[in-house]
Amino acid sequence: MHTPIRPIRKAVFPVAGLGTRFLPATKAVPKEMLTIVDRPVLQHVVDEARAAGIEHFIFVTGRNKGVIEDHFDNQFELEATLEARGKKKELEALLRDLPAAGQTSFTRQQAPLGLGHAVWCAREIVGNEPFALLLPDMLHHGRSPCLADMITAYNTSGGNLIAVAPVPDDQTHQYGIVGVKDAKAKVAPITGMVEKPKPGTAPSNLHITGRYILQPEIFALLEKQERGAGGEIQLTDSMIRLMGDARQPFHAVRFDGTIYDCGSKLGFLTANVALALEREDLAAEFKREVQRLLNV
Ligand code: UTP
Repeated sequence: MHTPIRPIRKAVFPVAGLGTRFLPATKAVPKEMLTIVDRPVLQHVVDEARAAGIEHFIFVTGRNKGVIEDHFDNQFELEATLEARGKKKELEALLRDLPAAGQTSFTRQQAPLGLGHAVWCAREIVGNEPFALLLPDMLHHGRSPCLADMITAYNTSGGNLIAVAPVPDDQTHQYGIVGVKDAKAKVAPITGMVEKPKPGTAPSNLHITGRYILQPEIFALLEKQERGAGGEIQLTDSMIRLMGDARQPFHAVRFDGTIYDCGSKLGFLTANVALALEREDLAAEFKREVQRLLNV
């Protein structure tokens, strides 16, 4: 019998990591709240999910992450002040970013045991339905939003989907890598998956970029809490089981835009420069400043 493809209504954002690469900035400020131009990294990623039609935003937070909850809430004092000062445009922009009442949920990962564990912490809120998963520090920037492309593909393929993009062959050992039937296709069945393969052993050069559509059966596999690479509970290990033992279909969706790893200093700084250079209100002057710094 043909099983209907269930819609993707919910998205999970794991934001419980320690952000050690950004210390001391991340001592009191979550790395997901560091700004790309004038929006927190996390806001950019929530925007991507909203553009893809997501209705419920689930944040897996941890200690010192309280400001994330505040960021996605009304700020009455500020809003009243903007109103009183006639700053209509600023107020409208602020309210536009805000998810509607009841559209957000927050749960805690009490210890950062790994991405797989963070996703598992969202199981009760996701329930028995397929969901999107977005890693907030991976900023996907392109003409077509990554998650929207994935949902379009999902509406035909169903099952599980993973966004991928090519990396140089000598960097595959730093990433989760997938093998696919057709490495050039926009959407292709996945034939294998491995987390941080030893140099020279990767099945392709397509890395997992941090956007997923997953079926709820992943939670039962994550429940086992087995540790993988780096001693962490890895999501990739459970996806391998979901594909192998549970025989669920997985497709790779190739993302053609630019990905900035905002969890690394280089990616974060590059994203700031790139996005500032695209801003109408900043580009001309900022370009002159950059050129001056580079002595161009
Ligand atoms: P990272 O491994 O890049 O985040 O995880 P990190 O551990 O905070 O970074 P560093 O290496 O110490 O600088 C990718 C995403 O998964 C979340 C992180 O918050 C980040 O958004 N994550 C990671 C969790 O929520 N829980 C974890 O146990 C691990």
